[in-house]
Amino acid sequence: MQQEWWRGAAIYQVYIRSFADGDGDGTGDLAGVRAKLPYLADLGIDAIWFNPWYPSPMDDGGYDVADYRDIEPAFGSLAEAEKLIEEAHNHDIKIIIDIVPNHCSDVHPWFAAALAAGPDSLERERFWFRRGRGEHGELPPNNWRSRFGGPAWTRVTEPDGTPGEWFLHLYSSRQPDLNWTNPEVHEEFEDILRFWFNRGVDGFRIDVADGLVKADGLPDVEDAEGGPVPYSDLDGVHEIYRTWRRIADGYPDKRVFVGEMWLPDPLRFAMYLRRDELHSAFNFDFLSCPWDAGRLREVITATLAAHAPVDAPATWVLSNHDVTRHVTRYGRADTSFSFADRQHLAPTDPVLGTRRARAAALLTMALPGGVYVYQGEELGLSEVEDLPDAVRQDPVFKRTAGADIGRDGCRVPLPWSGDAAPYGFSNNGTAPWLPQPAGWAAFTVEAQTDDPGSMLELYRRALRLRSANPALGDGRMTWLPDLPAGVLGFDRDLGFTCVVNLSPDPVELPAPDQVLLSSQPLEGSLLPPDTTVWLRT
Ligand code: NOJ
Repeated sequence: MQQEWWRGAAIYQVYIRSFADGDGDGTGDLAGVRAKLPYLADLGIDAIWFNPWYPSPMDDGGYDVADYRDIEPAFGSLAEAEKLIEEAHNHDIKIIIDIVPNHCSDVHPWFAAALAAGPDSLERERFWFRRGRGEHGELPPNNWRSRFGGPAWTRVTEPDGTPGEWFLHLYSSRQPDLNWTNPEVHEEFEDILRFWFNRGVDGFRIDVADGLVKADGLPDVEDAEGGPVPYSDLDGVHEIYRTWRRIADGYPDKRVFVGEMWLPDPLRFAMYLRRDELHSAFNFDFLSCPWDAGRLREVITATLAAHAPVDAPATWVLSNHDVTRHVTRYGRADTSFSFADRQHLAPTDPVLGTRRARAAALLTMALPGGVYVYQGEELGLSEVEDLPDAVRQDPVFKRTAGADIGRDGCRVPLPWSGDAAPYGFSNNGTAPWLPQPAGWAAFTVEAQTDDPGSMLELYRRALRLRSANPALGDGRMTWLPDLPAGVLGFDRDLGFTCVVNLSPDPVELPAPDQVLLSSQPLEGSLLPPDTTVWLRT
């Protein structure tokens, strides 16, 4: 048994709106999650990470929080969240919730108070209000761009009706950035952490973990078009996490922090994982990496090397609620992912994508560290790329006038059963908040259960083997020498070997009689292309 459960955990990501609808209004909710806890327990996961479940106008799918100490009414109530936490624990499933400290919603009482109080008020000091440039303050205070497109500043109308100051928002204009130089902001979030720890949550996933502290004086950036804003990585952020860590460590049972950050530099990334800061962070280099043996090997090696000096476990992620589902990515000519170049129009081969997704799942689950499963990947769902513009909700789509198709396509409600939409998502047949494709009957949990060739049964077998096998999860790995080009192979301690064939030709297996699991049927002693095998050695 691993002492620190999170070091090798399989964590299932629940995007509540799209998971399961318990009250029949077409939106997923906590009742839906509670009803499906046996499904998750049976899948073999160790923890659930919930995307934000707080009251929110849902301008950014809940990443615009109106109240950090309650539950979105469309999802349920605080009492129900407490029940859910308890029931999950009864299933031996830990609960990680999202915390969004970089920004809140524009309907958060603090922001409403800031607007009402006017310039130079203490209320405005909780955010980044500045006078505009230009003769009449008609230009934004600096050239920063929102990560969702357009300027990172919006001008407000003052209480007296005149055009007034501007406020900073690194995301949508309905997500004002909080001012982390203000001690009140620190105290507020420390209290929020305690509020949820006291209700039994086992950890937090920290949104935009590296973005809280902005560069002094908010200077212009050289590359305004899509260039990074000068924030983060400043001592102030590390200080915040040291304080948070002390709070978490004050609880007798282990509570964890997982950082979300898209940092290109692995060494900077690892600084957040020092002993007294975050426990782990998402590894998006792996997610972004093309389906290519050489590149994958480089990313895996660099990731492990960056984590080793700080003794933090790596995490491996193939998909989440922000990126194109990997079945779709892996079926394209270019299998990599980048936000700047979201390939929403590139043709994809779902058969090839699915085959590679199966192989990638077994690779991911065999690597040392923790693994994340985004809801629906265990069903082999593709990105829904043909959603009508009128139903799209993502602010990315709206703020770029559709130039960036946005993230709705990976957030379509899950298919559970039946032959037609809503595929058991809502028990009473209500249309879900985003329409599901006509072809999802074959992808339901019901259709895949007990089908030995299904993605769901592959995930079930793999996750169970993974948690039962002490070689997997946290620990070390050693690359196998002398493999043919396009083949990855590594040993884990205690007699476990994983081999992935990314080459176009079948390759000879090192130990064909010791197969634990393979992502495709083997051809005698040969490992077919785009296939992963787990061996007992
Ligand atoms: C990262 C989250 O994963 C994404 O969904 C959100 O839009 C941004 N942070 C802003 O909160």
